[in-house]
Formats: sequence, structure tokens, C-alpha cells
Amino acid sequence: MKKILVTGAAGQIGSELTMTLRKKYGNENIIATGHKTKPDETLLESGPFHFIDCTEIHTVAEIIKRYKVDTIYHLASVLSAVAEEKPQLAWNVNMTGLYTVLEVAREYECHVFAPSSIGAFGPTTPLNNTPQDTTQRPNTMYGITKVAGELLCDYYFKRFGVDTRGVRYPGLISYKTPPGGGTTDYAVEIYYAAVGQRKYTCYLKEGTYLDMMYMPDALKAAIELMEANPARLKHRNAFNVTAMSVAPEDITAEIRKTLPEFTIDYEIDPLRQAIADSWPNKMDDTAAREEWGWKPEYELDSMTKDMMEKISQRLKINMD
Ligand code: SER
Repeated sequence: MKKILVTGAAGQIGSELTMTLRKKYGNENIIATGHKTKPDETLLESGPFHFIDCTEIHTVAEIIKRYKVDTIYHLASVLSAVAEEKPQLAWNVNMTGLYTVLEVAREYECHVFAPSSIGAFGPTTPLNNTPQDTTQRPNTMYGITKVAGELLCDYYFKRFGVDTRGVRYPGLISYKTPPGGGTTDYAVEIYYAAVGQRKYTCYLKEGTYLDMMYMPDALKAAIELMEANPARLKHRNAFNVTAMSVAPEDITAEIRKTLPEFTIDYEIDPLRQAIADSWPNKMDDTAAREEWGWKPEYELDSMTKDMMEKISQRLKINMD
């Protein structure tokens, strides 16, 4: 039976991935860890949870030894907008954290899932149908840590044989745990605002196209990649994966199918707009499709329907 460590387990991806892994592999076999954010009760009560600092090698090694962990989903990371506010913190969490996990994985022979992001691309990358292998010269601290992380994971595989795997996640949309300070957060906020207030002020301009994905597909991508036959993987780390390429007005139009009175206006945040402008409009994820059968289930319409239903249940607001 697998023994899995999840770092960043109280975060946007981690909170849902932990519960999905617990259902799949058994509650006791998934060791969830976080830093400061308190996880919700379900996560806390359904299996082991520890507060740790994933940049401290002895702490991480201790957990690996204690539970005989064989696989690590390393999700602890500072997102793009916060990373621009606190670049030193972002370097430490994103780089030292990853280095620590890879070192421990080398020593204790663990498999590692370490996600990269659309943030690993930059203004000189082809922004339409962004190829799997292309120019990566990001100009944000977040992007720099993500490119360096991709290279480091490749290095640990080639040099030490550590089974590292990863995807470049697009903006992730979910109704359970909010993202913590990213550039794509508007795509979550807009749904809460639509159901709650029937209006939203967007910090990105109309026409800002970015890749997005609904959380169930993001979880599926992580688990399917970790279960893929390694002989088929020509790339191991940093697979482009996407489900849709959307701009704020596309989500607005989709929401209006359920809530015709919903309105949007725009107050641009120059920091996040500049970051978004340097990221792909639409990635080409052919390599992931060919090498491990990647295929998303949700498109904009099915995701919007599910988000609106779930949020109205959560907020106890009737949409009729
Ligand atoms: N969603 C992330 C961010 O906006 C991108 O990986 O920072």
C-alpha cells in the first residue's frame, strides 16, 4: 500500500487532493502537512496531519521515516502575486522547499509530484499554442522559481534517478478552498461574487486570455501522471496541461446564462495585469495527451454550472 506525504495540504489544491488520495488509498496512508493555514475539520479528522516547515530538511525527513513514506505530492508554494510582494519569501518557500523535498526523496527513494505553472513562461514565449518545449524567460519571482524547479526536478531524475513528475498547471478554479494570492484568482472570485452580489469588479482587462482548469481535472492530472507508465514518459516534469482558454468576458457570458442580471466592471491592477500579459493565452498540451493520456472532463459551460450550484448551496443563496 502506498504511503503518501502531501505538503501544502491546507492550500487550494492540497485540501482537495488530500481527500481524494485518502478515498483512493486509505485515510491513514495519506500524511497531510501544512505550515500556518489551519485545514478544515474533515481533513484534520480523517487522517494524520502535521504542521511542518517544508524548508527544514530534518523535519521533512522525520515524517518520511516515521510513516515510511514512498511518494510525495509537494504542493507548498507561494503564488505569483504574493511572490511579487515578497520575493525573498517566495524564493525560500518555492526553491528551498523543493530542494529539501528532492534531497529527502533521493535519500529515502520517494516518488515526487512537483507542479510547475503557466507562470514558468514569460513575455518572449509564444503566447498562442505555447509549445511544450519553448523559450522560458519569465520576469516574475514566481516564474523564476517555477523554471528553476522544473530544471531541478529533471536534474534529480537524470542524475540521481529520483522519479520526479509534474505538470504546468493553468489557473485553477474551485469552490472549496480559495487560492492564496495568484494572478488567476479572479476566475474563482467572479463566481462567488456572481452568486453572492450579482456583480463583480475584475482586476484583469477584458480580452486577457489565460488557460484555466476546474479542480477535479487538476486532481485527475496529478494522480494520472503519477500512475502513468514511466516507459511512456519522454518528458517527466512540467507537462503543459489545459482545459480551456478564457477571458473575463467569457466567464461573464457563461454566468449570465444562469444569472442574466449579473454585471461586471473593471478596475485594473497593474501588477497582476502585467503578470497575466506575460503568460500564455493558450498552451499546447499534446505531449501530456500523447505520453500519459491526459484529457480534461470539464469545459467552461460544465464547470460554470457546477461552480454556481455548489457555491449557491454553500452560501445558501437561491439563484431563482
Ligand atoms: N494560479 C497561479 C497564479 O496565479 C498560476 O500558477 O499564481
